Amino acid sequence: MASNAEHPTGHALIERSTTLLFVLTLLVVLIGGLVEIVPLFKLETTVQPVPGMRPYSPLEQIGRNVYTREGCYTCHSQQIRPFRDEVERYGPYSVAAESMYDHPFLWGSKRTGPDLARVGSKYSNAWHLAHMIDPRSVVPVSIMPAYAFLKDRDIDVDGFGAHMRALRDVGVPYSDTMIAQAPADIRAQASGEETEGLLARYPKARLGDFDGQPGRVTEMDALIAYLQVLGTLADFSQATPGEGS
Ligand code: HEC
Repeated sequence: MASNAEHPTGHALIERSTTLLFVLTLLVVLIGGLVEIVPLFKLETTVQPVPGMRPYSPLEQIGRNVYTREGCYTCHSQQIRPFRDEVERYGPYSVAAESMYDHPFLWGSKRTGPDLARVGSKYSNAWHLAHMIDPRSVVPVSIMPAYAFLKDRDIDVDGFGAHMRALRDVGVPYSDTMIAQAPADIRAQASGEETEGLLARYPKARLGDFDGQPGRVTEMDALIAYLQVLGTLADFSQATPGEGS
């Protein structure tokens, strides 16, 4: 042995000097940390854009806020995992770009009810309305709570621009026109009558008098508009399987 009790060398030296052990441990942790963290600064290049993704229309975004407020994510996930059973049940697995305009993310971690990442266009607007008013009326064994009160709650149509500006501050590319047109777009989408440019600004937006109350724009309109767009935007027809997810 090269070391002895009075003059330790190598590993024995490190083990016996607290300061040296601390400094070297810190060095190792720092290098490990850098290797993990530095790639994240390049996030913009690691999230591959998917054709078709766009920011939520104002009505859909209001619906998303209702979804968040009501805690729907505590029973429903919005993330299809890349496993065969999931893909066969819910459709193509979720990719990062599909959540690029989500603030906050609503991926969820619990499935008391089914995943909703691709629920858009699965049912009619009327089905959603009946289901939200009384889930048991369409799914007799359902244990989901009823949300009938949403159709009695009117939306602040004219005040939503501020929310869009806040979202723009965190990176959602809402233009000045989109913000200025928000009240008209909200009314148009919830009445089912396309006005100037709504579908050009928000392609594939589902239009309809979702809550069956013409002339009123309620949280029910917004929530159903949001549910109907989930998973319908991304166009995977040009994507190469196995890339960019
Ligand atoms: C206590 C748990 C729970 C909460 C909270 C909950 N759900 Fe559900 N949800 C369920 C269950 C269970 C089902 C399956 C039975 C059914 O269709 O009603 C379901 C089904 C659904 C479906 C049909 C999905 C499909 O593919 O068939 C939609 C849409 C839905 N929920 C939306 C919502 C929304 C929106 C909210 C919040 C306003 C919400 N849920 C809150 C438990 C919940």
